[in-house]
Amino acid sequence: METTPDLQKIRHILVVGAGAMGSQIGLVGALAGYQVTVQDISEKMLAPASEELSLRLDRSVAKGRLERDAADAAMNRMSFTTSLRDAASTADFVIEAAVEKLEIKREIFRELDEYAPAHAVLATNSSTLGSSKVADATGRPDRVCNMHFFNPALVMKCVEVVRHESTSQQTVETAMGLAARLGKAPILINREIPGFVANRLLGALRTEALKLYDGGIASFEDIDTAAKTALNHPMGPFELMDLVGLDVAYLIRQAHHQETGDPADLPHPALAELYEAGHYGRKTGKGWYEYPAGS
Ligand code: 3HC
Repeated sequence: METTPDLQKIRHILVVGAGAMGSQIGLVGALAGYQVTVQDISEKMLAPASEELSLRLDRSVAKGRLERDAADAAMNRMSFTTSLRDAASTADFVIEAAVEKLEIKREIFRELDEYAPAHAVLATNSSTLGSSKVADATGRPDRVCNMHFFNPALVMKCVEVVRHESTSQQTVETAMGLAARLGKAPILINREIPGFVANRLLGALRTEALKLYDGGIASFEDIDTAAKTALNHPMGPFELMDLVGLDVAYLIRQAHHQETGDPADLPHPALAELYEAGHYGRKTGKGWYEYPAGS
């Protein structure tokens, strides 16, 4: 993997958004030896995020996957703040993992451009919005790209680096190089396309699974069983929707439909029903499956 001047400069990574994705991306960075700040506008998000990461580290230590010292050192490299200005002022690389709403992301990128050093690359973890949609809110569109992680970010190896028309080759190489240094297996996507690569593959499986379920061909549990025992997938498509969040799955689908205009891309009615009832999967204790508290 090429090394770039920007890659060599990276000491401090800022992650914007302390949800499950943002906080785990932050810990991935800290485990790789970087100083990491996780920023969120809501104070209420920060303490639970930090506690959840400590628990994850404790579990890895208990399982013998990580030395106690390494876990403590990683946690010591992390800080949590509500101030975007302070966190961005020393950031060498920013990964935005805030809510999937374009206007909010554009405002974040505008502020990041104002506060972050000129050399900093500004990446978005968005799975639906190509970075061209936020790049023009900055004065450095050449340093903006997507860097899309997968859930759970601590475990999943793939990172999709997506360039838009004005992303420079150096930015692409910096993002690819950073992902590799984080222990990930980056893939490069040369053109913005709705769903990028992995979510398009997943979407095809999910669409078929929902069609089979809706047609009464098989129960969702049995469809999950087939994916696991016939195809060796670690989880079935319904279990996976519960893990990623039915809200996320629904909003991705809706955004995809807005891009393509194809009615076949609308969120599936059974998914929409769960979404509208507020059943978002593991995070609410109920989605396709039920999750007793503490499970
Ligand atoms: N967060 C962090 N770590 C987790 C985790 C979570 N939610 N769930 C499990 N893990 C860790 C465990 O701690 C364990 O780590 P260790 O080996 O260091 O102890 C490791 O993952 C394996 O966990 P388990 O033994 O408990 O369970 P499994 O072997 O069943 O693995 C799984 C769990 C990794 C989630 C696995 O089932 C899996 O790979 N599922 C598919 C996930 C997937 O497809 N993700 C992509 C979703 S699409 C997406 O993210 C796109 C985005 O745009 C929405």
